[in-house]
Amino acid sequence: MRVLITGAAGFIGAHLSARLRTAGHTVLGIDVVEPSVPAPLHRLRLELAGFTGEDYLRTDILDVDALRTAWRRFQPEAVVHLAALPGVRDSMRLPDRYRDVNGRGTLNVLACCEDFSVAKLVFASSSSVYGAAGVEAPARETDAPGTLRSVYAETKWQAELAVRASRLSARAVVLRLFSVYGSHGRPDMMPWRFAEKVLRNEPVELHEGTRRDFTHVRDAVSAIEAALSKAAGCGPAVYNVASGRPVETAEFLHLLASNLGRPAQVRRVPTPPELPASTWGDIQAIRRDLGWVPAVSLHAGISEVARFHLREVSPFCVPGRSWTAAADTSAIQAAVISTKSK
Ligand SMILES: NC(=O)c1ccc[n+]([C@@H]2O[C@H](COP(=O)([O-])OP(=O)(O)OC[C@H]3O[C@@H](n4cnc5c(N)ncnc54)[C@H](O)[C@@H]3O)[C@@H](O)[C@H]2O)c1
Repeated sequence: MRVLITGAAGFIGAHLSARLRTAGHTVLGIDVVEPSVPAPLHRLRLELAGFTGEDYLRTDILDVDALRTAWRRFQPEAVVHLAALPGVRDSMRLPDRYRDVNGRGTLNVLACCEDFSVAKLVFASSSSVYGAAGVEAPARETDAPGTLRSVYAETKWQAELAVRASRLSARAVVLRLFSVYGSHGRPDMMPWRFAEKVLRNEPVELHEGTRRDFTHVRDAVSAIEAALSKAAGCGPAVYNVASGRPVETAEFLHLLASNLGRPAQVRRVPTPPELPASTWGDIQAIRRDLGWVPAVSLHAGISEVARFHLREVSPFCVPGRSWTAAADTSAIQAAVISTKSK
Protein backbone atom coordinates (compact mmCIF):
# COMPACT_ATOMS: atom_id res chain seq x y z
CA MET A 1 0.00 0.00 0.00
CA ARG A 2 1.16 3.57 -0.67
CA VAL A 3 1.01 5.33 2.72
CA LEU A 4 1.61 9.03 3.27
CA ILE A 5 2.52 9.92 6.87
CA THR A 6 2.34 13.50 8.12
CA GLY A 7 4.61 14.22 11.11
CA ALA A 8 6.81 11.35 9.90
CA ALA A 9 9.97 12.71 11.53
CA GLY A 10 8.31 12.89 14.94
CA PHE A 11 8.50 10.35 17.74
CA ILE A 12 5.60 8.11 16.66
CA GLY A 13 6.03 8.95 12.96
CA ALA A 14 9.62 7.68 12.84
CA HIS A 15 8.68 4.38 14.52
CA LEU A 16 5.65 4.02 12.23
CA SER A 17 7.63 4.74 9.04
CA ALA A 18 10.17 2.07 9.97
CA ARG A 19 7.45 -0.50 10.71
CA LEU A 20 5.42 0.13 7.54
CA ARG A 21 8.47 -0.03 5.32
CA THR A 22 9.53 -3.32 6.91
CA ALA A 23 6.00 -4.63 6.28
CA GLY A 24 6.46 -3.91 2.56
CA HIS A 25 4.48 -0.67 2.21
CA THR A 26 5.70 2.31 0.17
CA VAL A 27 5.98 5.32 2.48
CA LEU A 28 6.16 9.06 1.87
CA GLY A 29 6.97 11.04 5.02
CA ILE A 30 6.06 14.69 5.42
CA ASP A 31 7.32 16.88 8.25
CA VAL A 32 8.15 20.53 8.75
CA VAL A 33 10.52 19.65 11.64
CA GLU A 34 9.65 21.97 14.49
CA PRO A 35 12.62 24.13 15.57
CA SER A 36 12.22 22.84 19.14
CA VAL A 37 13.43 19.38 18.04
CA PRO A 38 17.19 19.15 18.73
CA ALA A 39 19.15 18.42 15.55
CA PRO A 40 20.75 15.20 16.87
CA LEU A 41 17.34 13.82 17.86
CA HIS A 42 15.97 14.64 14.41
CA ARG A 43 18.90 12.78 12.86
CA LEU A 44 18.39 9.73 15.10
CA ARG A 45 14.71 9.62 14.17
CA LEU A 46 15.45 9.85 10.44
CA GLU A 47 17.91 6.97 10.83
CA LEU A 48 15.25 4.95 12.64
CA ALA A 49 12.60 5.76 10.03
CA GLY A 50 14.99 4.71 7.25
CA PHE A 51 14.22 7.64 4.96
CA THR A 52 16.64 7.76 2.06
CA GLY A 53 15.80 11.10 0.39
CA GLU A 54 12.91 11.18 -2.06
CA ASP A 55 10.64 9.40 0.41
CA TYR A 56 10.84 12.33 2.85
CA LEU A 57 9.56 15.88 2.23
CA ARG A 58 10.29 18.76 4.56
CA THR A 59 6.87 20.36 4.09
CA ASP A 60 4.47 22.36 6.24
CA ILE A 61 0.86 21.13 6.44
CA LEU A 62 -0.13 24.81 6.37
CA ASP A 63 1.35 25.09 2.85
CA VAL A 64 -1.62 24.01 0.71
CA ASP A 65 0.22 24.13 -2.64
CA ALA A 66 3.09 21.97 -1.36
CA LEU A 67 0.62 19.48 0.11
CA ARG A 68 -1.36 19.19 -3.12
CA THR A 69 1.86 18.65 -5.08
CA ALA A 70 2.87 15.88 -2.68
CA TRP A 71 -0.55 14.18 -2.93
CA ARG A 72 -0.63 14.51 -6.74
CA ARG A 73 2.84 13.01 -7.19
CA PHE A 74 2.59 10.24 -4.59
CA GLN A 75 -1.11 9.29 -5.06
CA PRO A 76 -1.42 7.79 -1.56
CA GLU A 77 -3.91 5.00 -0.94
CA ALA A 78 -3.79 5.67 2.80
CA VAL A 79 -2.82 8.65 4.96
CA VAL A 80 -1.78 8.63 8.62
CA HIS A 81 -2.12 12.15 9.96
CA LEU A 82 0.23 12.61 12.92
CA ALA A 83 1.59 16.14 12.28
CA ALA A 84 0.59 18.44 15.12
CA LEU A 85 1.88 20.58 17.91
CA PRO A 86 1.52 18.04 20.73
CA GLY A 87 2.30 19.80 24.04
CA VAL A 88 -0.57 20.25 26.50
CA ARG A 89 1.22 22.87 28.60
CA ASP A 90 2.81 24.58 25.60
CA SER A 91 -0.63 25.01 24.03
CA MET A 92 -1.61 27.39 26.85
CA ARG A 93 1.37 29.59 25.92
CA LEU A 94 0.83 29.50 22.15
CA PRO A 95 -2.93 29.05 21.64
CA ASP A 96 -3.12 30.67 18.19
CA ARG A 97 -0.27 28.60 16.81
CA TYR A 98 -1.83 25.39 18.16
CA ARG A 99 -5.23 26.23 16.65
CA ASP A 100 -3.56 27.01 13.35
CA VAL A 101 -1.41 23.88 12.96
CA ASN A 102 -3.72 21.35 14.62
CA GLY A 103 -6.90 22.93 13.25
CA ARG A 104 -6.25 24.52 9.86
CA GLY A 105 -3.42 22.05 9.15
CA THR A 106 -5.80 19.13 9.69
CA LEU A 107 -8.40 20.73 7.40
CA ASN A 108 -5.72 21.02 4.69
CA VAL A 109 -4.81 17.34 5.06
CA LEU A 110 -8.49 16.35 4.94
CA ALA A 111 -9.07 18.43 1.79
CA CYS A 112 -6.16 16.71 0.00
CA CYS A 113 -7.45 13.29 1.09
CA GLU A 114 -10.91 14.14 -0.28
CA ASP A 115 -9.67 15.63 -3.55
CA PHE A 116 -7.30 12.76 -4.32
CA SER A 117 -9.75 10.02 -3.21
CA VAL A 118 -7.65 8.52 -0.46
CA ALA A 119 -9.10 5.14 0.54
CA LYS A 120 -8.14 5.24 4.23
CA LEU A 121 -7.31 7.90 6.81
CA VAL A 122 -5.97 7.32 10.31
CA PHE A 123 -5.99 10.37 12.55
CA ALA A 124 -4.02 10.61 15.82
CA SER A 125 -6.24 12.14 18.46
CA SER A 126 -5.56 12.17 22.16
CA SER A 127 -6.75 11.04 25.58
CA SER A 128 -6.89 14.74 26.43
CA VAL A 129 -10.37 14.91 24.81
CA TYR A 130 -11.65 13.12 27.94
CA GLY A 131 -10.76 15.97 30.31
CA ALA A 132 -11.09 14.65 33.87
CA ALA A 133 -12.71 11.28 32.94
CA GLY A 134 -10.60 8.20 33.68
CA VAL A 135 -10.21 8.52 37.44
CA GLU A 136 -12.74 6.12 38.96
CA ALA A 137 -13.20 4.02 35.82
CA PRO A 138 -11.54 3.76 32.40
CA ALA A 139 -12.72 6.37 29.87
CA ARG A 140 -14.86 4.88 27.10
CA GLU A 141 -14.95 6.29 23.58
CA THR A 142 -18.45 7.67 24.27
CA ASP A 143 -17.19 9.74 27.23
CA ALA A 144 -15.70 12.42 24.94
CA PRO A 145 -15.70 15.30 25.02
CA GLY A 146 -15.06 15.75 28.69
CA THR A 147 -14.35 19.18 30.11
CA LEU A 148 -11.56 20.25 27.77
CA ARG A 149 -8.77 21.61 29.96
CA SER A 150 -6.24 22.84 27.42
CA VAL A 151 -6.07 24.44 24.00
CA TYR A 152 -4.35 21.23 22.83
CA ALA A 153 -7.38 19.17 23.93
CA GLU A 154 -9.70 21.62 22.22
CA THR A 155 -7.75 21.38 18.94
CA LYS A 156 -7.80 17.57 18.99
CA TRP A 157 -11.55 17.52 19.61
CA GLN A 158 -12.15 20.06 16.83
CA ALA A 159 -10.01 17.98 14.48
CA GLU A 160 -12.04 14.86 15.34
CA LEU A 161 -15.21 16.77 14.45
CA ALA A 162 -13.64 17.84 11.16
CA VAL A 163 -12.82 14.20 10.32
CA ARG A 164 -16.39 13.22 11.18
CA ALA A 165 -17.83 15.99 8.96
CA SER A 166 -15.57 15.20 6.01
CA ARG A 167 -16.39 13.04 2.98
CA LEU A 168 -13.74 10.68 4.30
CA SER A 169 -15.69 9.92 7.43
CA ALA A 170 -16.63 6.32 6.60
CA ARG A 171 -13.05 5.55 5.59
CA ALA A 172 -11.48 7.15 8.67
CA VAL A 173 -10.24 5.76 11.95
CA VAL A 174 -9.62 8.10 14.88
CA LEU A 175 -7.19 6.76 17.46
CA ARG A 176 -7.12 8.42 20.87
CA LEU A 177 -3.58 7.80 22.04
CA PHE A 178 -2.72 7.65 25.75
CA SER A 179 0.78 8.77 26.93
CA VAL A 180 2.95 7.09 24.32
CA TYR A 181 6.52 6.37 25.50
CA GLY A 182 9.58 4.62 24.10
CA SER A 183 12.97 5.30 22.52
CA HIS A 184 13.45 8.42 20.34
CA GLY A 185 10.77 10.13 22.46
CA ARG A 186 9.90 13.76 22.96
CA PRO A 187 12.08 15.94 25.21
CA ASP A 188 8.96 17.73 26.50
CA MET A 189 7.32 14.50 27.71
CA MET A 190 7.52 13.02 31.17
CA PRO A 191 9.78 9.98 30.48
CA TRP A 192 12.45 12.10 28.79
CA ARG A 193 12.30 14.86 31.45
CA PHE A 194 12.51 12.25 34.23
CA ALA A 195 15.45 10.43 32.63
CA GLU A 196 17.38 13.61 31.97
CA LYS A 197 16.98 14.87 35.55
CA VAL A 198 17.94 11.49 37.05
CA LEU A 199 21.05 11.28 34.84
CA ARG A 200 22.09 14.76 35.95
CA ASN A 201 21.40 14.06 39.65
CA GLU A 202 18.86 16.86 39.76
CA PRO A 203 15.48 16.79 41.52
CA VAL A 204 12.57 15.53 39.44
CA GLU A 205 9.38 17.55 39.74
CA LEU A 206 6.64 15.02 40.40
CA HIS A 207 3.01 16.03 40.13
CA GLU A 208 1.47 14.87 43.38
CA GLY A 209 -0.69 11.74 43.10
CA THR A 210 -0.91 11.63 39.29
CA ARG A 211 -1.48 8.41 37.30
CA ARG A 212 -1.00 7.79 33.61
CA ASP A 213 -2.11 5.05 31.26
CA PHE A 214 1.17 4.55 29.37
CA THR A 215 1.25 3.02 25.89
CA HIS A 216 4.49 1.76 24.42
CA VAL A 217 5.28 3.26 21.01
CA ARG A 218 5.46 -0.21 19.36
CA ASP A 219 1.94 -0.88 20.59
CA ALA A 220 0.77 2.52 19.30
CA VAL A 221 2.30 1.67 15.91
CA SER A 222 0.58 -1.75 15.91
CA ALA A 223 -2.74 -0.02 16.56
CA ILE A 224 -2.17 2.29 13.57
CA GLU A 225 -1.29 -0.74 11.40
CA ALA A 226 -4.48 -2.47 12.54
CA ALA A 227 -6.49 0.68 11.79
CA LEU A 228 -5.03 0.84 8.28
CA SER A 229 -6.43 -2.59 7.53
CA LYS A 230 -9.90 -1.90 8.92
CA ALA A 231 -12.71 -2.08 6.37
CA ALA A 232 -14.77 1.08 5.78
CA GLY A 233 -17.82 1.50 8.01
CA CYS A 234 -20.63 4.01 8.32
CA GLY A 235 -18.76 6.77 10.18
CA PRO A 236 -15.33 7.30 11.60
CA ALA A 237 -14.40 4.45 13.91
CA VAL A 238 -13.00 5.88 17.15
CA TYR A 239 -10.77 3.84 19.43
CA ASN A 240 -8.70 4.32 22.56
CA VAL A 241 -5.10 3.18 22.31
CA ALA A 242 -3.95 2.59 25.88
CA SER A 243 -2.62 -0.16 28.11
CA GLY A 244 -5.80 -0.17 30.20
CA ARG A 245 -3.61 -0.20 33.34
CA PRO A 246 -2.78 3.23 34.75
CA VAL A 247 0.32 3.51 36.92
CA GLU A 248 1.39 6.12 39.45
CA THR A 249 3.87 8.50 37.84
CA ALA A 250 5.95 8.01 41.03
CA GLU A 251 6.18 4.28 40.19
CA PHE A 252 7.14 5.05 36.58
CA LEU A 253 9.94 7.30 37.89
CA HIS A 254 11.11 4.67 40.37
CA LEU A 255 11.32 1.99 37.67
CA LEU A 256 13.07 4.31 35.24
CA ALA A 257 15.64 5.43 37.83
CA SER A 258 16.42 1.84 38.79
CA ASN A 259 16.92 0.96 35.09
CA LEU A 260 19.21 3.98 34.75
CA GLY A 261 21.15 2.74 37.79
CA ARG A 262 20.78 6.03 39.66
CA PRO A 263 18.63 7.21 42.58
CA ALA A 264 15.86 9.70 41.82
CA GLN A 265 15.61 12.87 43.89
CA VAL A 266 11.99 13.95 44.02
CA ARG A 267 10.40 17.36 44.50
CA ARG A 268 6.62 17.05 44.80
CA VAL A 269 4.70 19.89 43.14
CA PRO A 270 0.98 20.53 42.56
CA THR A 271 -0.49 19.40 39.25
CA PRO A 272 -1.21 22.33 36.91
CA PRO A 273 -4.92 22.71 36.07
CA GLU A 274 -4.49 21.88 32.36
CA LEU A 275 -3.13 18.40 33.20
CA PRO A 276 -5.47 15.61 34.34
CA ALA A 277 -4.77 13.87 37.66
CA SER A 278 -5.33 10.51 36.00
CA THR A 279 -5.69 9.00 32.54
CA TRP A 280 -7.14 5.55 32.04
CA GLY A 281 -8.46 4.18 28.76
CA ASP A 282 -11.00 1.44 28.15
CA ILE A 283 -9.63 -0.75 25.35
CA GLN A 284 -12.50 -3.19 24.82
CA ALA A 285 -13.63 -1.59 21.54
CA ILE A 286 -10.28 -1.78 19.77
CA ARG A 287 -9.73 -5.32 21.04
CA ARG A 288 -13.16 -6.39 19.76
CA ASP A 289 -13.07 -4.65 16.35
CA LEU A 290 -9.39 -4.69 15.40
CA GLY A 291 -8.06 -7.53 17.53
CA TRP A 292 -5.47 -5.16 18.97
CA VAL A 293 -4.04 -5.74 22.43
CA PRO A 294 -0.99 -4.06 23.96
CA ALA A 295 1.98 -6.40 23.88
CA VAL A 296 4.87 -4.51 25.54
CA SER A 297 5.04 -4.71 29.34
CA LEU A 298 5.80 -1.58 31.34
CA HIS A 299 9.02 -3.16 32.65
CA ALA A 300 10.28 -4.01 29.14
CA GLY A 301 9.24 -0.60 27.79
CA ILE A 302 10.93 1.35 30.56
CA SER A 303 14.11 -0.66 30.29
CA GLU A 304 14.20 0.23 26.57
CA VAL A 305 13.75 3.95 27.37
CA ALA A 306 16.59 3.73 29.90
CA ARG A 307 18.90 2.06 27.37
CA PHE A 308 18.15 4.78 24.81
CA HIS A 309 18.92 7.52 27.31
CA LEU A 310 22.10 5.86 28.57
CA ARG A 311 23.32 5.41 24.99
CA GLU A 312 22.24 8.67 23.36
CA VAL A 313 21.53 11.29 26.02
CA SER A 314 23.70 10.48 29.03
CA PRO A 315 27.03 11.44 27.35
CA PHE A 316 25.75 15.01 27.10
CA CYS A 317 24.24 15.45 30.55
CA VAL A 318 26.11 18.61 31.45
CA PRO A 319 24.98 19.82 34.91
CA GLY A 320 22.74 22.86 34.67
CA ARG A 321 22.05 22.44 30.94
CA SER A 322 19.45 20.36 29.24
CA TRP A 323 20.35 17.90 26.48
CA THR A 324 18.07 19.93 24.27
CA ALA A 325 20.13 23.08 24.80
CA ALA A 326 23.46 21.28 24.86
CA ALA A 327 22.65 19.34 21.71
CA ASP A 328 22.51 22.50 19.67
CA THR A 329 26.21 23.20 20.03
CA SER A 330 28.44 21.90 17.28
CA ALA A 331 30.79 20.20 19.78
CA ILE A 332 27.94 18.11 21.09
CA GLN A 333 26.71 17.31 17.58
CA ALA A 334 30.20 16.11 16.67
CA ALA A 335 30.23 13.98 19.82
CA VAL A 336 26.91 12.41 18.80
CA ILE A 337 28.39 11.44 15.45
CA SER A 338 31.53 9.97 17.00
CA THR A 339 29.47 8.01 19.56
CA LYS A 340 27.34 6.58 16.73
CA SER A 341 30.38 5.49 14.74
CA LYS A 342 31.89 3.49 17.66
N1 LIG B 1 3.12 11.00 22.13
C1 LIG B 1 1.94 10.90 22.77
O1 LIG B 1 1.88 10.47 23.94
C2 LIG B 1 0.66 11.29 22.09
C3 LIG B 1 -0.54 11.16 22.80
C4 LIG B 1 -1.73 11.54 22.20
C5 LIG B 1 -1.74 12.00 20.90
N2 LIG B 1 -0.57 12.13 20.24
C6 LIG B 1 -0.62 12.67 18.86
O2 LIG B 1 0.13 11.82 18.01
C7 LIG B 1 0.76 12.60 17.00
C8 LIG B 1 2.26 12.33 17.00
O3 LIG B 1 2.77 12.66 18.29
P1 LIG B 1 4.31 12.57 18.66
O4 LIG B 1 4.39 12.27 20.10
O5 LIG B 1 5.02 11.69 17.68
O6 LIG B 1 4.73 14.09 18.47
P2 LIG B 1 5.97 14.72 17.68
O7 LIG B 1 6.00 16.17 18.03
O8 LIG B 1 7.21 13.94 17.94
O9 LIG B 1 5.54 14.52 16.16
C9 LIG B 1 4.73 15.46 15.48
C10 LIG B 1 5.48 15.87 14.23
O10 LIG B 1 4.67 16.81 13.53
C11 LIG B 1 5.54 17.75 12.94
N3 LIG B 1 4.83 18.99 12.66
C12 LIG B 1 4.41 19.94 13.54
N4 LIG B 1 3.86 20.96 12.88
C13 LIG B 1 3.90 20.64 11.56
C14 LIG B 1 3.47 21.30 10.38
N5 LIG B 1 2.91 22.52 10.43
N6 LIG B 1 3.66 20.70 9.19
C15 LIG B 1 4.25 19.46 9.12
N7 LIG B 1 4.69 18.80 10.21
C16 LIG B 1 4.52 19.37 11.41
C17 LIG B 1 6.64 17.96 13.98
O11 LIG B 1 7.82 18.50 13.39
C18 LIG B 1 6.81 16.56 14.54
O12 LIG B 1 7.87 15.89 13.90
C19 LIG B 1 0.39 14.05 17.30
O13 LIG B 1 -0.72 14.39 16.52
C20 LIG B 1 0.01 14.03 18.77
O14 LIG B 1 -0.90 15.07 19.09
C21 LIG B 1 0.63 11.79 20.79
